[in-house]
Amino acid sequence: MLPIGPLMKEHRKIERMVALIADEAERLAEEEAEPDPEFIFDALTFMREYADECHHGKEEHILFAELEERDLSEKHQQIMTRLVNDHVRGRELTADLETAAERWEDGEEAACDDIIEAMQGIADLYPDHIATEDRNFFIPVMEYFSDDEKEEMMEKMWDFDHELFTALYTECITAYEPEE
Ligand SMILES: [Fe+2]
Ligand SMILES: [Fe+2]
Repeated sequence: MLPIGPLMKEHRKIERMVALIADEAERLAEEEAEPDPEFIFDALTFMREYADECHHGKEEHILFAELEERDLSEKHQQIMTRLVNDHVRGRELTADLETAAERWEDGEEAACDDIIEAMQGIADLYPDHIATEDRNFFIPVMEYFSDDEKEEMMEKMWDFDHELFTALYTECITAYEPEE
């Protein structure tokens, strides 16, 4: 299997959450309804832990890091720079959504507009980002790697996921343990 296989599968999950976020932004904008704090909390957790730490983490720390060592064509270099910038923008939008949700929960009604804006921003950013990776980047850049290098990257991705998963659950314990 190519190391981009797991990344593409993750895209399918991110798309589903982004579609939910887009629907929620539309509901709030059209119906002047109340935000749903439970959905926002779950969406933030998903975007932060799965989309960013796990998925962008593997892209940036493994695939893009390996590509940095290669002599990329100008076109591939440009696409990679744009993809990294998109990740930065994604983090900003997630932080904006969290801040707006906190303000709304503190009783600031007008913060609902900022919740909608951050959600629409996420809904606008990801589909094109994912389509660019799937259609114009992941497969063509495999040509920079030998079969052994691809295999090695695949292993690094498994290790990355395992370490992240372990770190997340270790945090569940240490958060409640008394400090030494
Ligand atoms: Fe990406
Ligand atoms: Fe991606």
